[in-house]
Amino acid sequence: MTEQTVAPIPAHVPAELVRYYPLSERKTIYENPFDTLVADVHNTWPEIAYGSNVYPGNVGAWVLRRAEDLKAVYMDEEHFTKKGFSGFAALLGESWSLIPTELEPPRHGAFRQVLNPLFAPRRMAELTVKVRDRARELAARFKGRTECDFAAEFAVPFPAIIFLELFGLPQAEMDHFLAWEHKLLHVADQTVRADATREVKHFLQDVIKERRKNLGTDLISNAIQITIDGEPITDDEILGHCFNLYVGGLDTVASNLGLHFHHLATHPEHQQQLRDNPALIPAAMEEMLRAYSAVTTFRICTKQTEIHGVSILPGDKVAMTTPLAGRDPTQYKNPNEVRFDRGATHVTFGYGSHRCLGANLARRELLIALEEVLAVLPPFRLAPGAVVPFRAGGVIHVESLPLVWG
Ligand code: HEM
Repeated sequence: MTEQTVAPIPAHVPAELVRYYPLSERKTIYENPFDTLVADVHNTWPEIAYGSNVYPGNVGAWVLRRAEDLKAVYMDEEHFTKKGFSGFAALLGESWSLIPTELEPPRHGAFRQVLNPLFAPRRMAELTVKVRDRARELAARFKGRTECDFAAEFAVPFPAIIFLELFGLPQAEMDHFLAWEHKLLHVADQTVRADATREVKHFLQDVIKERRKNLGTDLISNAIQITIDGEPITDDEILGHCFNLYVGGLDTVASNLGLHFHHLATHPEHQQQLRDNPALIPAAMEEMLRAYSAVTTFRICTKQTEIHGVSILPGDKVAMTTPLAGRDPTQYKNPNEVRFDRGATHVTFGYGSHRCLGANLARRELLIALEEVLAVLPPFRLAPGAVVPFRAGGVIHVESLPLVWG
């Protein structure tokens, strides 16, 4: 897609605020977008701009770059909704919602009340042994070698293995899962995305049907048994919830793993700090989550409002650009510097009522991956001459990460 193929800019958008947003391009780039594109937006853009190509399908959306502005929109349920923001059901001409994320109050709150305990820190702590075993199995494959593609051999399969376990699905489904996920989240072509949406939907519907006959303790069985106000949830809601976990839980963790290990491979002094003092790993993980915040979601305006003096009209989309917020110079001193003692909060998992349901699971996976890989691999670095391909878009990630050691 190029600048020429974007949708028309709405008449109320001031021409001087229109920008082409390079982080939405959904194509491979050979530069670390956090150091270049994100920094460039902060250096040259106004506080609010209209990215002509931000929403999938090359549709425009408002782009905010300040963490405080993002928080204000996350909290503002009077003027903004998430209903229909993902566009997955619309790709099929249907109207089911991703659940909980596309629900509005009060049903959203009712769902979160039921779901939060299932993803609470204590429940996730119970998974530690399982998660650590899977991390060890993957890391063990590096022993006796001097190189790997960390993205293909760890960052991508690790969360997928955990996810299949949590869904009670055979590991043999992994290749399907990953291929669909790539098409849903990283491809710009709307036909490809629609086909993948249909396939995932049919796959999940078949599994839900099977699971009804044989309930277990997995997340699909949980979904089938959810009741709200004493009523079972509908078939569309069960599908929408499973779909939401699928698009929310796999790619996000894989992307962060790739970005965090890319950072360590290119910052040997930070790697050494963690090897010398593994107790620093939780703080390091938090700081890398801030500095490499990968996810952009959307809000849709339902009632006219103003941000920085600019009118936002009903129907306008606002991009919740956490990659920009994580490097906001008004929020963080020297935002491009990664400092494990920074101790700063961030909006990498969102904010307010829609804050990430899976944050505790994600943190556990990231933490254990850092601990286990650092325990097995000697100091690692990028393969000589390697130029790492990054992919920007709704979730920023590295497409491959060639590492060498020894
Ligand atoms: C490092 C990994 C992750 C990151 C950076 C991340 C990021 C986010 C963000 C920014 C939001 C808020 C979106 C918004 O308000 O528009 C969110 C929501 C959500 N995430 Fe995550 N996520 C991660 C891992 C996970 C995992 C592992 C799961 C699955 C268990 C998950 C499931 C969800 C769900 C279901 C929501 C919707 C919550 C709601 O709307 O009430 N996420 N995530």
